[in-house]
Amino acid sequence: MQITLETIDRVAGAIRSKIKDQPRLGLILGTGLGNLAESVEEPVILPYAEIPEWPVSTVMGHAGRLVIGRLEGQPVLVMQGRIHYYEGYSMQQVTLPVRVMQRLGIEILIVTNAAGAINPDFTPGDVMLITDNLNFSAMAGLNPLIGPNLDELGPRFPDMSQSYDRRLCELARQAARQADLPLREGVYVGLSGPSFESPADLRFLRLAGADAVGMSTVPEVIVARHGGTRVLGFSGISNKANLDGNTVTSHEEVLEAGRILVPKLETLIRAVLRVL
Ligand code: HPA
Repeated sequence: MQITLETIDRVAGAIRSKIKDQPRLGLILGTGLGNLAESVEEPVILPYAEIPEWPVSTVMGHAGRLVIGRLEGQPVLVMQGRIHYYEGYSMQQVTLPVRVMQRLGIEILIVTNAAGAINPDFTPGDVMLITDNLNFSAMAGLNPLIGPNLDELGPRFPDMSQSYDRRLCELARQAARQADLPLREGVYVGLSGPSFESPADLRFLRLAGADAVGMSTVPEVIVARHGGTRVLGFSGISNKANLDGNTVTSHEEVLEAGRILVPKLETLIRAVLRVL
């Protein structure tokens, strides 16, 4: 199903009618990271099920609501729970929230996710600044921009040479240094899931240059960049990817790691918001 500008504007209008300030920043919280939304001040809370057309997240660890308010004085719109392609939604539905954010006037999107470490130096509990991504789903034809181009929102053939904004990356590095918080950096590879990768998949992904692997983020970033939104991305490393086939990956360990990762991500994101 093609999502039209009218649909996007109808959803944006429904949200706008419920909030006071225009949000400047969007924040998408990944699996197990939803508690970050608890820090939003003066929140207006909109459950996804009450927003017209909004896809509902069905995954454990995703609350499924918008929390709109202030963080470090900045007007923010937080997605407490994201939508994944593997839940059965189309790529356009998965990225509808980013389109709506763009129509609400959001300038910067901060994406977070839980990810498996392919880079052998990374361990669970690490935070990785995403400096670029590999999108095997889009390379295989699952690109959210397939279909008629919405010219009002962006060009037919958008550039993706700097998906992750260099200035925002630098602010994140400074924030990490000041907080004495080790920050990894690397390439995130987005796959469709929901099955975890086989050891052979992972060895291939390592050869292809990936440092962390997950089941989200890249479609949202493509749509954000199509519409000119600046992006900052963090992966919360939740588990070691199973390159040798001797460990088992589970959703429970991904959720568990979120408890360690949330305070680190909150420190970084708050510090970046303070200097924007
Ligand atoms: N693979 C894919 N997605 C993930 C992983 C993983 O190991 N960990 C968290 N999300």
